[in-house]
Amino acid sequence: MFSTQTYTNRRDRLANLMPGSLMLFVGNDDASFNYHDNQYRFRQDSTFLYLFGLDSACMAAIMDTASGETTIFADDVSMDDIVWTGPMESVADRAARAGVSKTRPMADLDACLKRAAAGGRTVHYVPPYRGRTIIKIAELTGKTPAEVKTGSSTELTKALVKLRSVKEQCEIDDMDRQMAFGYAMHTAAMRMAHEGYTENDIMAQVEFEALKGGGPVSFPTICTIHGETLHNHGYTHPLEAGRLLLVDAGCESPNHYATDNTRTTPVGGQFTTRQREVYEVVLAANNAVAAAARPGVTYKEMHMLASRVIVDGLKAIGLMRGDTDEAVAAGAQALFMPHGIGHMLGLDVHDMENYGEDLVGYDDEVRRDSQFGLASLRLGRRLQEGFCVTDEPGIYFIPELIDRWKAGHICEHFVNFSKLETYKDFGGIRIEDDLLITKDGCRVMGGTRLPSTPDEVEAEANSGNNKSRGANGRDRLTQEN
Ligand code: GLY
Ligand code: MN
Repeated sequence: MFSTQTYTNRRDRLANLMPGSLMLFVGNDDASFNYHDNQYRFRQDSTFLYLFGLDSACMAAIMDTASGETTIFADDVSMDDIVWTGPMESVADRAARAGVSKTRPMADLDACLKRAAAGGRTVHYVPPYRGRTIIKIAELTGKTPAEVKTGSSTELTKALVKLRSVKEQCEIDDMDRQMAFGYAMHTAAMRMAHEGYTENDIMAQVEFEALKGGGPVSFPTICTIHGETLHNHGYTHPLEAGRLLLVDAGCESPNHYATDNTRTTPVGGQFTTRQREVYEVVLAANNAVAAAARPGVTYKEMHMLASRVIVDGLKAIGLMRGDTDEAVAAGAQALFMPHGIGHMLGLDVHDMENYGEDLVGYDDEVRRDSQFGLASLRLGRRLQEGFCVTDEPGIYFIPELIDRWKAGHICEHFVNFSKLETYKDFGGIRIEDDLLITKDGCRVMGGTRLPSTPDEVEAEANSGNNKSRGANGRDRLTQEN
């Protein structure tokens, strides 16, 4: 948790944006895994964390900016709770650390909202994303679950987007610190990119490094030799020489700020000529964005910049042809990069995505495009100092997509489909860094960039004496640790 002042300042700023309003904030409850008492690791709602910092289940809060009163609703633990889960500070003491002096039992929340409804007050809440929260708000407001889902407050959501988009120094410090664990996750994976391991072995090591950082992983780890599947969550394949291992993984700090990096390593620790060529194109796109991202440019422009670099690079390899600008205008590069260049990063790995991608990543000036590939760009609007964003270009060879485009003669003037046939077993490459937008540019968060050039990746992959582990690989790793 940050200082008490951090939370009171945030709520003061929100109050200024939402005068005369009644706002309801519902924290998350525990969620059952396979039976009631066997539960997922608890994750507090990010809006609740941002405004109150209180990281435990079964809490809610009301901010009334007409009366100036903020109340936290929660119950003190019972003797039964103490016996099973241990003692916990009183609600009043915890609320005080968030700068809130008024607390009430949870049972009072219903009456409080009924009084507000009787007085004709609108209850503002952000879009709920968990079934339990939707049902709770429905019970509290007398709406149906469907009405709750459509009835969230755009005004409140926009106000929170405005505040949360620009990171405070304490948030930047927290994220910078956590990047060391992200670094350890990815370099561990690079050193294990050798035959004798399975994807599951490496995923386990990556998540071990994440858990050492005090928080959970920030999203399900992607650790695959089939990187052409963008969000591949299977871990069944043994590593095979000649393939590329793509690891897209991050961790949460104890305050729940996320890291999100991707690196791609050749199995066996040496790129083939063909892999190195494609890798250099992806790296050039990543570097171009990092060199150009600054306050005032739109992230859509950065997406288009990366797209041009990718088309130029693939033309040099002989996989694309024609005029670069025309190819990008036609969306031809989306055959190779069917996703956006990046997203906001913060308390959520796709920061604030529960508020709605368009409210977070777009505005009246920059609208989401409907073209394949560009339509998946999560962040398009103008950058400001203090934004944290990902820079994650990729090139993928998706056999089914290649076949579809070829059969449909899609962008055939720009794509060399006959040469592309020979790349269908290639897999995919993505290189993802986390950038802080600074006053006149940007910097990689955490200070130390992960190994990035092909030589750096090869050096890291070969630095652990892990080559040719064969069947003994796992045993040896266990001994080394
Ligand atoms: N790192 C996962 C994603 O950005 O979707
Ligand atoms: Mn990402």
